[in-house]
Parts: sequence; C-alpha cells; structure tokens
Amino acid sequence: MKHNYHIAVVVGSLRQDSFNKKLAHALIQLAPDDFTFSFINIGDLPLYNQDDDDHQAESVKQLKADLLDAQGLLFVTPEYNRSIPGVLKNALDHGSRPYGHNAWAKKPAGVIGASVGAHGTSMAQQHLRNVLSYLDVYAMAQPEAYVHAKEGLFDADGNFGAANKDFFERWMKAFTGWVRDFDNPLIPEKVQPAD
Ligand code: FNR
Repeated sequence: MKHNYHIAVVVGSLRQDSFNKKLAHALIQLAPDDFTFSFINIGDLPLYNQDDDDHQAESVKQLKADLLDAQGLLFVTPEYNRSIPGVLKNALDHGSRPYGHNAWAKKPAGVIGASVGAHGTSMAQQHLRNVLSYLDVYAMAQPEAYVHAKEGLFDADGNFGAANKDFFERWMKAFTGWVRDFDNPLIPEKVQPAD
C-alpha cells in the first residue's frame, strides 16, 4: 500500500516578505508527490501562560490538532539575536503542554533556516535542536543547511536559483527519506533498543 506523508511546516518568521517563508515554499516544490505540506499558523497564538493549561485558546487547540495530524515536521526559521525568534519558542511551548500532552513528540523533523548573516542561522538551529531534543522530536542531523539569504537564492518564480538547486534537492531527498525511514517499522534500530 502506498503511504502518503503529511508534513506540518513551522516558519519562525511572521514577516510578510520573509526569506524563510520563501525558503519553505521553494523546498516544498522539490518534494515527491506522496508528500503534502501545510503551514502551521503560529502568529495568532497568545503568549504562553501556564495558568491557561486547563482552558487552552482555540488557536492553541488548532495548533495541537494540526501537529497530531502530521507524520513529520519541517522547521524553517530565522535567527534572532543568536537564537530562535520568540514566536517560535512560544509555539513550541504551547504545543508541549499541558504536561504529558506534548503534540510535537515522536515525530521526525527537518531543521533549516535562512538569515542575512553569512553563517545562515547556525546558532538558532543549534538552539532549536536543543529544544526539539527535549520535546522528543527526531531532528535529521545531516545534511545541515545554513542558508545565506542573498541575491540569486531564488529565481523570479520563487524557485531555487541555478547555483543552489542541487544542494536543496539533496536536502529535500534526505528529509523525505528521513520521514519515510522513520515510518518503516522494519528498520531494526527503530524498534529495538541497542544492548
Ligand atoms: C535579526 N537578524 C539576524 N541575523 C542573523 O544572522 N543573526 C542574528 O542573530 C540576527 N538577529 C536578528 C534579530 C532581530 C530581532 C531581527 C529582526 C533580525 C537579521 C535576520 O537574518 C533578517 O531580518 C532576516 O530577514 C529574518 O528572516 P525573515 O523574516 O526574512 O524570514
């Protein structure tokens, strides 16, 4: 039976012309046809307050329902002051609560990001990986992708420019393979703890 994989895309920027939104859209164009994607709306979430755990806002319930529907996660984030943007951390916290009801858990993920700085979100991605590890998310380790948002990254149609297309194709192939392998119960290391 052919599987279909649905991926929840979490973009860490709310900016209208966000490079990271464009990066997410260009990546999706490279995915095989058994993958579908939907963008998670993190901009309407209230500021996380633990007092609200037993009466979460509708936007929080929607976030958690969207996450539970997905077989994988794609994080595309800018770097703000050498870390992840507050809006992204807010969404991560909301999805993780109340205690024992972590909607991010046990999902394979890809982590990527673009910044105008030459090191391309490397520090933000490391911070994000730290949080994801605690949330029991299985983030693909390699290939890493620290994207420098500069002239020529995208063409006029919003696809990757010629200089970068091969790299992003390889990245997407690895990510979709990561999600497929995660889904495969025949891979022994996924079902048996090492002695
Ligand atoms: C930035 N930017 C930035 N860039 C970077 O490489 N390292 C950093 O630490 C920061 N810090 C930072 C803080 C804040 C508050 C802002 C608004 C911006 C610049 C950032 O890379 C640039 O604004 C990108 O365009 C943000 O991504 P989007 O919104 O285009 O996806």
